[in-house]
Amino acid sequence: MSERRQELSPARLDGDEPVEAALRPQTFDSFIGQGRLKANLRIFVRAARQRGTALDHLLFCGPPGLGKTTLAHIIGQELGVEVHVTSGPAIDHRGVLAGLLTQLSARAVLFIDEIHRLSPVVEEYLYPALEDFAIDIPSGTGAFAQTLRLAIKPFTLIGATTRSGMLTSPLRDRFGIVERLEHYDGAEITEIIERSAGIMALPVDADAAREIGHRARGTPRIANRLLRRVRDFAEVEGDGRVTLAVARRSLEALQVDRLGLDNLDRVLLRSVIEQYDGGPVGIETLAASLHEDRDTLESEVEPYLIQCGLIQRTPRGRMALRRAYEHLGLPDGRTAGASSQGSLFR
Ligand SMILES: Nc1ncnc2c1ncn2[C@@H]1O[C@H](COP(=O)(O)OP(=O)(O)OP(=O)(O)O)[C@@H](O)[C@H]1O
Ligand SMILES: [Mg+2]
Repeated sequence: MSERRQELSPARLDGDEPVEAALRPQTFDSFIGQGRLKANLRIFVRAARQRGTALDHLLFCGPPGLGKTTLAHIIGQELGVEVHVTSGPAIDHRGVLAGLLTQLSARAVLFIDEIHRLSPVVEEYLYPALEDFAIDIPSGTGAFAQTLRLAIKPFTLIGATTRSGMLTSPLRDRFGIVERLEHYDGAEITEIIERSAGIMALPVDADAAREIGHRARGTPRIANRLLRRVRDFAEVEGDGRVTLAVARRSLEALQVDRLGLDNLDRVLLRSVIEQYDGGPVGIETLAASLHEDRDTLESEVEPYLIQCGLIQRTPRGRMALRRAYEHLGLPDGRTAGASSQGSLFR
């Protein structure tokens, strides 16, 4: 990934954690947007509390930076239970998982980030834990080898993944609740920026917050990151106040355009349009010509371009839509129906 890409990518970066922790909402009330999902989660949490049972296992899918980890912590908090955090790659053998599961207290939350990266062996070991709250412990060797079934306390697994398509169906089927987080609309992102500015004690004019919000790709993590960069400009070049002029000037310097696209987004669109005549072009071909890995393109770059109605995924590959030509100011020489889809901000 290029440095610019890293700066604006929705993926988590090293060094984000302390700042993100300070800005992370702790309760449903301070978690902005995702109204339908939040309303449902409140009901599920309340029902589990009333019954005194563990909440059903829950899977959060969706692009990076939309609040999956945040929601897992909020659920733990609202359930009044402890939350243990780990990730798919960190559980590298069954013993690690057994250790985690046996130390959970009753009704605790176990959060597994990047759950699509669990190894098949570990995943299979998880099944009886999810279904029967039991794990199998090998005992004895040779002719005396057997497995002992050990009961564990009822718990809630919260899995998070940016690649729901890579989850096996046996694993997916064991979640009672599967929810997808969607990109936020302009008003919600603006509200998130205002909330974050408040926590950072940073004065931001309303029109400046809106301007930053409209360029944050519908992603809270990017909104917070842009806000921190804009603060740098405001403090160094101005009097510390984020006005519309300061916001515009900083976003321009960061090369974030009107739709919130960065260089890689624009290079991808240009490539589809100019090198491949608007498409369809296969993702592998595109990844090779951009020197990017397919994973980054599929999980971080494309979802937003699709949501903006700039490109379309078809069985034969990616195609540029009319809005992409308009956005880049390129002539659309094609006649076949490449119409714009619904967009986020207008
Ligand atoms: N609804 C929201 N309201 C306010 N802030 C939010 C909201 N959702 C996310 N954030 C902010 O965005 C940051 C990123 O959210 P979070 O870490 O939960 O994303 P994620 O979906 O887990 O991303 P990843 O897939 O990279 O793990 C959080 O630190 C939080 O400050
Ligand atoms: Mg996360």
